[in-house]
Order: sequence, then C-alpha cells, then structure tokens
Amino acid sequence: MTAAGLARFTGRTALLSAAASGIGEAAAHRLAAEGASVLVTDIDGKGAHRVAEEIRAAGGEARDLQLDATSPADWAAAVAEAESWTGRLDVAHLNAGRNFPGAAHELDDDSWHYQLRLSLDSVFFGVRATVPLLRAARGAVVITSSVHAAIGFKGYPAYAAAKGGIDALVRQLAVEYGGEIRFNAVLPGSVLTALWADTPPEAKARISARTPVGRLGEPEDIAAAVAFLASDDASFITGQNLLVDGGRSITSHE
Ligand SMILES: NC(=O)c1ccc[n+]([C@@H]2O[C@H](COP(=O)([O-])OP(=O)(O)OC[C@H]3O[C@@H](n4cnc5c(N)ncnc54)[C@H](O)[C@@H]3O)[C@@H](O)[C@H]2O)c1
Repeated sequence: MTAAGLARFTGRTALLSAAASGIGEAAAHRLAAEGASVLVTDIDGKGAHRVAEEIRAAGGEARDLQLDATSPADWAAAVAEAESWTGRLDVAHLNAGRNFPGAAHELDDDSWHYQLRLSLDSVFFGVRATVPLLRAARGAVVITSSVHAAIGFKGYPAYAAAKGGIDALVRQLAVEYGGEIRFNAVLPGSVLTALWADTPPEAKARISARTPVGRLGEPEDIAAAVAFLASDDASFITGQNLLVDGGRSITSHE
C-alpha cells in the first residue's frame, strides 16, 4: 500500500467500522500509512485483528475491536477504547452496509428493516457515539454510501433507500456541526471486494466496458477518496456526496 508519500494523519486517531475486508480494510491501511493511529473494527473480530496485525507489521499503529455497527453499545465501547488509547478521535469512517436483492413487492418487513439498520441506522449510531470526541478534535466523518444513492438499479429498494438516506443525513450533519466536524460521503461504483466474489467474469467485463475509465474499482480507489475527505486537504469541503465510480453514473447505458 502506498500513500503517495503523504502523512496527513500523523498524531491523529481514526476509528473505522466494517474494516476487516474490502473498502474498510483498504481505508484502514491507507490512514495508517499516512500516520494515523487506527482502531480497526468489524463484526468479524478475527478479521479486524488480522488487519491491525498487518498494519503493525508494516510499521503502523493499530488496535482492533469487534464491533457490530448496528449495536449502540458496541459503538460506545469503541469510542471508550479510542479515548483510553490515544485520548482523542480525529476521523471516523462509517463503512458498514450491504446490498441484498429483493424487489419492493417481494421484500418482507424483516428484510427491509435489517437493510435499513445495517446501512443507515449503523451510521446514526456511529455518529451519535463519536461526535463528542470528534468535536473536541475538530475532526471529520466519512461515510461509505453507494452509487445506488444517486441512480436506480432494479431489485435494490431497501439498499437505495438506506444509502439515499445517508445523502441527506450528511448535509444535515454538516450544517448541524458546522465548523466543529466535517461530514462527507463517498459513493463507490463497482468495486472489486468480497461482494463481487460470485460475479461471473463476463458480467465484470460488461460493467468495465460501460465505465468511462474502462475498469472496475479497487478498494484502494475508494480508500484514497476517504483519506482525502478525512484530511485537512478537504478542510473547505463538508456536506458532500462524492461519486467515486470511474464515471459510470454519468454516462448513458444505451
Ligand atoms: N464493493 C462495492 O462494489 C460497493 C459499491 C458501493 C458501495 N459499497 C459499500 O461499501 C461498504 C463496504 O463494502 P465492501 O464492498 O468493502 O464489502 P466487503 O464484503 O469486502 O466487507 C464488508 C465488511 O463488513 C463487515 N460487516 C458486515 N456486517 C457488519 C456489521 N453489522 N457491523 C460491522 N461490520 C460488518 C464484514 O464482516 C466485512 O468485513 C458497504 O457500505 C457497501 O454498501 C460497496
């Protein structure tokens, strides 16, 4: 992992959710490579531990904690861990979410509520828990949303509603906490993580061909945007939803 020689997070502490895989894992490595003390959390505690070990092996500072992003109690424990470790929190990357297919007329109540809880409630719980420490540090929050917040894909109404909710929430929070904490979201397009493990190569080739930059995304593409928005380089940017999708959402799919 390279961080382009940048060290924008020296002396700062970052807390990441869903960071044992994919985008969250890449963001943890990126922030650590740029000098952050990184608290790696995931519902998969063993996976979070592995990522923290890899960061330390690369010379970075990391701790790990099992955290179910839908659990307010787990968020409180993570904030307490950050406080006892470094006494501060500068960055929160709220990354939990998953798209489960199911057209509206087929979706039962439990599935709808679970998806909203995993992809939207988890963000609220993370914000509520981290705001006091972030305020003290004049920190930044970056939320992983999705291109589904901006355009419709057949079969994903609950995911679209959850990620679309983040779109408005980011603006609201940016206004609410003004100069104290910045809030932004990244909207990844198709990014090659575990979520894509079962996608046939022909389907990936089709999507690449429809993407102006001519390829699918890598987790590091999103991590770079997360690091930018979390850093002082973005100190005049708040309340924004940044599409990081190789241009897929701005081209015709005819
Ligand atoms: N990969 C894509 O193409 C893509 C596109 C748009 C948005 N996203 C968003 O990016 C985020 C990360 O996705 P990814 O592709 O890196 O997935 P991934 O499958 O690689 O990683 C997801 C991680 O989330 C963890 N997790 C699951 N439930 C959790 C919970 N309740 N609490 C805490 N952690 C939990 C898993 O253990 C896993 O480590 C999600 O919010 C997803 O909606 C991904």
